[in-house]
Amino acid sequence: MKWNAELYDQKHAFVFQYGENVLELLDVQPGERVLDLGCGTGYLTQQIKSLDADVTGIDFSPEMIEQAKINYPEVNFAVADASDFHFDKPFDAIFSNAVLHWVKDHDAMMKCAYENLKSGGRLVVEMGGKGNTALLINATKKILIKHGYSKQAETKLWRFPGLGEYTHELENNGFRVTFAVHFDRKTPLQDGDQGVTKWLTMFGEPYFAGIPEAEKQQIMNEITELLRPDYCEHGQWFADYKRLRFIAIKE
Ligand code: BEZ
Repeated sequence: MKWNAELYDQKHAFVFQYGENVLELLDVQPGERVLDLGCGTGYLTQQIKSLDADVTGIDFSPEMIEQAKINYPEVNFAVADASDFHFDKPFDAIFSNAVLHWVKDHDAMMKCAYENLKSGGRLVVEMGGKGNTALLINATKKILIKHGYSKQAETKLWRFPGLGEYTHELENNGFRVTFAVHFDRKTPLQDGDQGVTKWLTMFGEPYFAGIPEAEKQQIMNEITELLRPDYCEHGQWFADYKRLRFIAIKE
């Protein structure tokens, strides 16, 4: 999937604004070597650097890394795969915000994170957890099927694991999970009635592969109307986010 880095910076700032809370969980110490896994356009990477850490941001998307380098030329960034990255020197901490639900091979990602951490190092993550955006996904599938696009309705873009299953996988990969929480966070969408369309355009484009533009707009409008009773409160739209946060230590 090709990312629109400009739209991401302008319209989806909540992704990294909420990430600032996750930074508190990271609790960076001056001089620590930190990897920001899936750094997007680099906002949180730069925040980590401002805490006097030696930080590198990696992202699978060349468009995101190009924008990150423009935004923060003083920070180290590189294009790399979350399930296949290797650094010569291990890290004190690996941090990841709102990214790991995109990863296809979680076992490979955990093995990679483990290999690239110092002994005693920590993996600190927030990602979508079980039930994340379930209303939005179900509404999208329902309207796609109504329009005869059952193949598109089967699109699977994300994995939103439960707390038990994911911490179990972390433990199987040698981590000791010292903190884990799975909570609801109603997340505001910008642009009023256009918010759902903007979100789907930014993150859910593959659901609409091969659908003519005018019909796509119509489908997105119908998804929006289906979600209105659950998503719109006094004109403000919210998505049904459910977050999984954890700290896992390399033993
Ligand atoms: C999330 O942060 O939960 C998320 C973002 C984009 C697509 C799917 C989920």
